[in-house]
Amino acid sequence: MTIQTKIFANPTSVADAFATDFSAWVAAQQSDTITVALSGGSTPKLLFQAWAEHYRNSIPWSRVHFFWGDERCVPPTSSDSNYGVAHELFLSRVQIPSENIHRVLGEASPDAECLRYADEIRQHVRLGAGGMPQFDLVILGMGDDGHTASIFPHESHFLKSPRICEVATHPESGQKRITLTGPVINAARRVTFLITGASKARVLSQVMHRTGDFANFPAAHITADQVDFYLDEAAAPDPPLGSNP
Ligand code: 6PG
Repeated sequence: MTIQTKIFANPTSVADAFATDFSAWVAAQQSDTITVALSGGSTPKLLFQAWAEHYRNSIPWSRVHFFWGDERCVPPTSSDSNYGVAHELFLSRVQIPSENIHRVLGEASPDAECLRYADEIRQHVRLGAGGMPQFDLVILGMGDDGHTASIFPHESHFLKSPRICEVATHPESGQKRITLTGPVINAARRVTFLITGASKARVLSQVMHRTGDFANFPAAHITADQVDFYLDEAAAPDPPLGSNP
């Protein structure tokens, strides 16, 4: 596993820097089809805006197939919908074929949708060496409690689930969510964390330095071949790990 850390002044510069790096990464991909799992949360909103404003015509979106690393079990019209946010800020503003968008049907029964979404992933994502679907890129955030995707500390067994996805339960709201499991995330060729804000600093420092309660934080169990941390200064541990910009 290689770790790369890049630290920027603020969330907007984090998103802009990753958008630039993503553009170069897409250009460097050999395959005609690139599979990317998107995250929910606040920092990705800035990334979506950067993609729509600065890369509408320069990234070959028809080569990219978008999935979600997790989705809330709500209708796509809900402000809680990760797909709904991505569609409003980005997907509705670039030329990307509808068949390239593989949303979780948040309006469906969670258990049934978990099975359906897993099948959709099987149909469109190549298998990795370990027999799990291998995304080219999984974009993740991290919660204040160290959750990532919708793998929360109280459901950390999802980190080792034999399934492609699971039905998760938010520990406070009880909201049901569909999440990729640890083995699928860790099978990815590349995982990029976009983490910003001072509220993440304490947990992120333990995750990156593998100190304190790091073992209790799902984000500490992400061990894909390449793991990047794109951080703002407020979230970054001191001293940072990995390479700097
Ligand atoms: C979700 C996300 C979740 C998010 C973290 C961080 O659906 O909520 O996938 O894992 O990435 O909660 O969210 P922020 O970037 O808003 O802090």
